[in-house]
Amino acid sequence: MGYAIAEAVLAEGHDVTLISGPVNVAPPHDARLISVSTSDQMFEAVHQHVDKCDICVLCAAVADYKPAHVSSNKIKKQSEKFSLELVPTRDILTSLGQRQDRQFVLVGFAAETDHLEENATKKLRAKNCDIIVANDVSDANSGLESDVNEVTILFRNGEKKKISRAQKKFIAHELVKIFSHFATKMFDKKNVTIN
Ligand code: CTP
Repeated sequence: MGYAIAEAVLAEGHDVTLISGPVNVAPPHDARLISVSTSDQMFEAVHQHVDKCDICVLCAAVADYKPAHVSSNKIKKQSEKFSLELVPTRDILTSLGQRQDRQFVLVGFAAETDHLEENATKKLRAKNCDIIVANDVSDANSGLESDVNEVTILFRNGEKKKISRAQKKFIAHELVKIFSHFATKMFDKKNVTIN
């Protein structure tokens, strides 16, 4: 979905910085690609580049946990059960939402298997973003690892829009129109001067 959004933004003539973990999809040619392989690298890269953006879209399915310790040597097989201690990763979207000086539109995604709108609305508020794109990932024909998707877009003022099942490419174009419209309204409001 992220690559489809990047393609759609490029098609509108904008610049794209694409910060991506390992995927099996070819990146769009004209995007500035920054490849990362851990959630910590993604966190650092996003914070490094975000201030040059008008719209920041976070749609990666970032791991929620990472190993507490990383062994530099091969871990030898053990005869009994083996437990791996995991600690939470940093939440990139939340860290951006907490920034008081934010000058960009912040868009998050919510991957849900149940209570789609309720859970996505909670994420919108908890992570303090402007827009959440809610995605039902319980259906094999929607969301992760599928070419098609169906999304509901939720805004802070309670407004919502639905894009029915369609190719991710089409959904991406519709999303980009929605994000651009929102950004234009937000930046226009900020530029209003009272005489
Ligand atoms: N996200 C993030 N950093 C993380 C985890 C998630 O920036 N460490 C972002 C995702 O890119 C997405 C949003 O947070 O934009 C919601 O991610 P999601 O996986 O739906 O939810 P979680 O916050 O991980 O919560 P839960 O797994 O409990 O649903």
